Amino acid sequence: MVIDALDGLGASPQTPESTFVQKKKSVVAKKPTKGSSGRGLRDLTVKVKTARGRRPSSTRWLQRQLNDPYVQAAKKDGYRGRAAYKILELDEKYRFLVPGARVVDLGCAPGGWLQVAVPRVNALGERSGKAVGRVLGVDLQEVEPLAGAEIHQLDFLDEGADTQVMEWLGGQADVVMSDMAAASSGHKQTDHLRIIALCEAAAYFAFDVLAEGGTFVAKVLAGGAEGELQKLLKQRFTKVANVKPPASRSDSSEKFVVATGFKG
Ligand SMILES: C[S@@+](CC[C@H](N)C(=O)[O-])C[C@H]1O[C@@H](n2cnc3c(N)ncnc32)[C@H](O)[C@@H]1O
Repeated sequence: MVIDALDGLGASPQTPESTFVQKKKSVVAKKPTKGSSGRGLRDLTVKVKTARGRRPSSTRWLQRQLNDPYVQAAKKDGYRGRAAYKILELDEKYRFLVPGARVVDLGCAPGGWLQVAVPRVNALGERSGKAVGRVLGVDLQEVEPLAGAEIHQLDFLDEGADTQVMEWLGGQADVVMSDMAAASSGHKQTDHLRIIALCEAAAYFAFDVLAEGGTFVAKVLAGGAEGELQKLLKQRFTKVANVKPPASRSDSSEKFVVATGFKG
């Protein structure tokens, strides 16, 4: 799956993201050696000593961050977070961030997905001869401004949020994407139900604001309660795919739905 999703990437080799993805390709293609974790990309090299006052879970988090090639690449490429590579990889496969597209990013903080969307839809008009798109992000939190993106602090669950977003956008959207996660309760099943509820709410939001033919991309957690969501999406879109992009950690139950061809 990892190799599949990386194959046939079409971005120009000058873009930082494609340099990264091509480099990764040779790494992920390597067979795990005997006794290794088998996780290819994630073989640990930096060990973090347990420090007084630091909880073991924080030490594990720090060690994972230090050894995560996507964290390192994000730093090098100037992305606000490793999440940027998830939307980048999804777009490489499904091509929804096209010049001229009007994009709504629900739960956009700190702004990694926005950073990917702005050049791809030509929101700054830097690619002459190509249609100029729009990128609009909303989040509960304040987000550092980003050239080419319009960002608002908003709970998308608020009454009238859909109308408000269309007003800001000046019409319907071609893409609604969501990387939203509810605050973790520490209880797997509760978290799963919460994220499915959030995803369903995002889907209904998309039904209100998407133009015909539009695309909906959203993060879900695999865990058994997503059947209703799939059924709902299949009624309203011509195609619904479930994908785990390479940048999504293999030890997380996170996956993404990509629903294309909104029927209206
Ligand atoms: C994982 S982060 C998104 C990361 C982002 N895709 C990026 O690349 O930077 C999830 C975000 O969803 C936001 N969020 C959760 N519930 C929300 C809601 N009801 N309305 C708006 N934003 C929400 C959180 O505040 C959080 O910033």
